[in-house]
Formats: sequence, structure tokens, C-alpha cells
Amino acid sequence: MSAEAGREGGSPMNPREEPGWRLFRGDGVPRHVEMPPAPPWRRFGAGEREVPAGEGEVPAGEREVPAGERAPSGPARPAPYLIGPEHADVVNAALHLRRPLLVTGSPGTGKSSLARAIAHEMDLGEVLRWPVNSRSTVQDALYRYDAIGRLRETALTRDRGEAEPDIGTFVRLGPLGTALVPGGRPRVLLVDELDKGDVDLPNDLLTVFEEGEFEIPELARLPEEQSVVEVLTERAGERATVRRGRLVCEEFPVVVITSNGERDFPPAFLRRCVRLELPTPDESRLRAIVTAHLGDDALEDVDQLLDAFLRRRAARELATDQLLNAVFLRAGGMDVTADGLLEAVLHRLGGAV
Ligand SMILES: Nc1ncnc2c1ncn2[C@@H]1O[C@H](COP(=O)(O)OP(=O)(O)O)[C@@H](O)[C@H]1O
Ligand SMILES: [Mg+2]
Repeated sequence: MSAEAGREGGSPMNPREEPGWRLFRGDGVPRHVEMPPAPPWRRFGAGEREVPAGEGEVPAGEREVPAGERAPSGPARPAPYLIGPEHADVVNAALHLRRPLLVTGSPGTGKSSLARAIAHEMDLGEVLRWPVNSRSTVQDALYRYDAIGRLRETALTRDRGEAEPDIGTFVRLGPLGTALVPGGRPRVLLVDELDKGDVDLPNDLLTVFEEGEFEIPELARLPEEQSVVEVLTERAGERATVRRGRLVCEEFPVVVITSNGERDFPPAFLRRCVRLELPTPDESRLRAIVTAHLGDDALEDVDQLLDAFLRRRAARELATDQLLNAVFLRAGGMDVTADGLLEAVLHRLGGAV
């Protein structure tokens, strides 16, 4: 194996014997190093860009993605997503019922990716993401009002003898608020890791989902002639019209709520969700996921790695993307099974480090 030869054989001081993947050598000698192509799932800034087939840097693995993927080729294509028909139909139930889909499952089973897969397949635009943490509030996810910015701006314009700035430019809808903006097709909202949030968060969220509307008191109290205000939204450049300080949704958004099961949710909340438990993928599903992301070639010689992954996963939690990372490194010529490296990539999740 060439990677092993580079690691074990020869002196590390001899640059000719260093394998190409060793970008950092730890010898303190400055060199100009070209970065190799990133894994398909770690490419940034190209998501919206249309890349015509055959143009741009497309690593071997990408070109091998099976035919039948409807998306265009190149970095603009969203990550592939595999889901069994029985689970896809739970998604369908939530879509028909206009209810939030509560997705549970071990880390890396594709909970968060499901929102993007639905948005892509149903052509519902970019996912509105709300990553929940212990400080998250429904209020902030609905909208934020920049009172200090407005005061400052008003003082400045007054000094210059200009007209007062429009209040709407100081109100920005958050992901939840933007998801409720009426007009057109429903939007997809990902409430990611709701179990990381405060104990009251599910019930507060439930209220908004049941009512499908919310008030912005700062706008509601404006005089009649200012009853229609254009506010900013979560999406750059997009504005929403708020009348008399209320925003009323027209079509309930497609809501995907994920949870790692760190907290139980109240029964009233659970009752109003459609629940989808994503299973931990078995070996054949893992192979299919690897092929979908990295192409058929990536499966060659991968048995040993897959074995190591499954063995480790039996004893403790491991995420599917950890396997993808290992296979990607291996495809680039790295000896992932070398001591220490496997542990670094397939390390245990959760708990103290
Ligand atoms: N069913 C799947 N189909 C394709 N890729 C998947 C699937 N499940 C997981 N993955 C891969 O694993 C990564 C982690 O998935 P993610 O949705 O972040 O998991 P979770 O939110 O459950 O922790 C994804 O970015 C994707 O690359
Ligand atoms: Mg996730």
C-alpha cells in the first residue's frame, strides 16, 4: 500500500518519499502546499452556483455518483440522501396533515439532512435553519428588534436634517418568523436539536404552531398611517409585509424538528407532531450511503474499514458521517487504519473527551 510505504518506509526528511496527502509534515520547513479538493459535504460558497457539467474541479468520486440522481453534476448538486419508502411515507403523513415532523435517531442518522432533502426534492427553496441551544427563545426565532440601532440612526439622520429611517429596517424576522411569512409555496423550517433547548421551548413553539401567527408589538403600536411595514427576513434581500403588527401564515410551513433524545417533550407537544424514528443504518445501507456520496470506486477495498466501523459502533455510538470521512481519506491514499488515525476519525461520540 503506497500510503503505508510513505509512512513506514524512508526518512521523513526526504521530501520525495512523502505521500501527496501529507500536507503538514511537522518538520517546520515552509512549503507552498496546494489544498486538494474538499469532501463534497465540506464545500462552501458554491451551493447556489450553477456549475455546468464538466467544468470546475470535480474529484473522481463525484463523477461516479450513480445515474438517476436528478440534480445537476458538479459542486452545486446537493448532498444525496437515502431514505426507505416506509420512512418517506411518515414524511408524507406530516406533509398532508400540515404537522411538524419530529425526527429522532442516533447522531449521524440523517435527521438534519432530511430537511434539505425534502426542500430539494419538493423545490421549496433553501431551508430556514434554527439551531437550538440552551439560550434559544421562540421570541428570538420569530423576530428581533434593534431598538438601539434605531435610536442611533434616528439621532444621526435628525442631525443631518434627513428623514427618519424606516422602522422596518430595524425588525428582522428570525427563521421561525420567516417560515410563517404568507405567500407562495410553504417554506421548510429545520428546528435542529430541540432537546438542547430550555424546558419551556416545546410548549412555546406549540403555541406558535397552533396559532400560525404572531404579533410584533413594536409595530402594532404604530399610528394608522404606518400600519403597513416592510421588515427584513432571515433571507438576505428578502422582505416581508407586516400589517398592523401581525404576521399571519397562509400555508403551514414544512417543519422538521430533530432531537437526539436528551430531553423528553411534553405530551401535548408530542401529540401534535408526526414522529419519525430514523434507524441506525445497517451494513448494506452504509454501503449505499458511501456510494451515493463518493461514488462506486469508494467501495473498493473498503471492507476492512466498514468492519472496523461496525465493530466500534456495536460498542458505542458512531455517526454515519464518521465512516464517510474515513472512506474519503482512504480514497485520497491515506492509511486510515494506521495506529491513532482510526481512533481520531472513528472516535467515540459524546461524554468527556
Ligand atoms: N440517509 C442518509 N443518506 C445520505 N447521507 C446520509 C444519510 N444519513 C446520514 N448521512 C450522512 O451523514 C451526515 C450526517 O447526517 P446528519 O443529517 O447531520 O445527521 P444527524 O442530524 O442525525 O446527526 C450527512 O451530512 C450525510 O453526509
Ligand atoms: Mg443533526
